[in-house]
Amino acid sequence: MTATTERRLALGALVHGSGGHIAGWRHPGARPDGQLDFAFHADLARTLERGRFDVLFVADVVAVRGHQLDSLSRTGRAEQFEPLTLLAALSLVTEHIGLAATAATTYNHPFHIARKFASLDHLSGGRAGWNVVTSVAPLEAANFGYDRHLAHELRYRRADEFVQVVKALWDSFDDEAVVRDKATGRYYDPAGLHTPHHRGEYFAVRGPLNISRPPQGHPVVFQAGSSETGREFAARHGEVLFTTQHELGAAQAFYAGIKARAAAHGRDPAHVLVWPGLTPLVAPTETEARRRLAELEGLIHDDVARRLVQDGIGDLDLTDHPVDGPLPDIPETNRSTSRRDLLLKLAHDEKLTIRQLAHRLAAGSAVAGTPEQIADHIEAWFRSYAADGFHISFPYLPGPAEDFVDQVVPLLQERGLLRTEYEGGTLRENLGLPRPAARDRHLQETGR
Ligand SMILES: Cc1cc2nc3c(=O)[nH]c(=O)nc-3n(C[C@H](O)[C@H](O)[C@H](O)COP(=O)(O)O)c2cc1C
Repeated sequence: MTATTERRLALGALVHGSGGHIAGWRHPGARPDGQLDFAFHADLARTLERGRFDVLFVADVVAVRGHQLDSLSRTGRAEQFEPLTLLAALSLVTEHIGLAATAATTYNHPFHIARKFASLDHLSGGRAGWNVVTSVAPLEAANFGYDRHLAHELRYRRADEFVQVVKALWDSFDDEAVVRDKATGRYYDPAGLHTPHHRGEYFAVRGPLNISRPPQGHPVVFQAGSSETGREFAARHGEVLFTTQHELGAAQAFYAGIKARAAAHGRDPAHVLVWPGLTPLVAPTETEARRRLAELEGLIHDDVARRLVQDGIGDLDLTDHPVDGPLPDIPETNRSTSRRDLLLKLAHDEKLTIRQLAHRLAAGSAVAGTPEQIADHIEAWFRSYAADGFHISFPYLPGPAEDFVDQVVPLLQERGLLRTEYEGGTLRENLGLPRPAARDRHLQETGR
């Protein structure tokens, strides 16, 4: 793809050693031992780089992912590397691929986060990305001395201030301020140092940061808000937005809505990239691809199926209900949410059993088909402004990632959608995102 092409298709991979599908780790081809194996991750990163992916992304929750330790014990979700530690190591065995991770604003401090992502950006030569989340898991609260999760609106207020402080810290030094000039005896130019002196509702941070400005100016900001508040936050701060979309029309509406919101905040909509999720299951024929999806579904233990449905719907105990029976009658509650209502309607309209509903939930954004069919899906969504790129989750690893790179990526390249070589040195350059100018001050500067 040439530098003059206006829109470029971007690909991100969501990496979880036990795979994106809840039962993926049990597949005969899966490598659940890879979860805590660096060589496994290094091979995977190189495969993705061969496929010219923009970014390898590691999600995070600072707790085990689930109250129900029994059903949790039947998934591969109980352990993972701390993401930044893993990405720092991967930066040494890769050259081009971006390295992004989640760090939540609810149970972290801006100084730590600014410092860690600045370090990763320096280590990797400008390939770092930060996924700003406010934490989906109330379980995190208990690991940090709180009785309950901070309320949704307050989490976003805190996140807003958090991001402003982090950016101010990244801008502590002007780009050229650290001169390390032996002749004059100046390590840095004092005129190029800007101390944030931040005092706000949640944070008091004097600064400056103890590391020079990141090569990208600011590591790329990822976001995945989906509520009204979350979308506003994403439109204000996000540069790559993850979203879960199952249907083209809804994805187009989300895409247009986010771009309009970004424009309303004075941002160039082209610099806010929308990436829906995609779980590709590639096979020589569509029938075989569907058989492979069914094979994965067959590996979902009954307890896990119940738990998936319980977590999806909320306020529900299915322990004593047969998984091959219908959902019990569910009373109206004031905890009704769009997702809960959607699932109840789906189960009702299609007369789904608990197990069948669990299979739908586990499949997520799965597209099972031939390499051509998967490339067609990607092309259609990209060309019809439903997606600027995709966050791709492989049902298990490493086989499906290799299949995608060997069979789908060449088709995308032949169609002129995907680069054959990396264009730039940094993640920003590859994504076509501008480098923030050092003098864009995010906070009132009160002193030096
Ligand atoms: C691809 C993707 C990755 C996400 N990764 C994380 C994560 O690592 N940690 C987390 O707490 N939430 C994660 N989320 C959840 C979002 O940050 C967000 O909280 C959720 O979509 C609900 O939206 P809301 O915060 O606007 O209510 C992710 C969401 C998506 C779609």
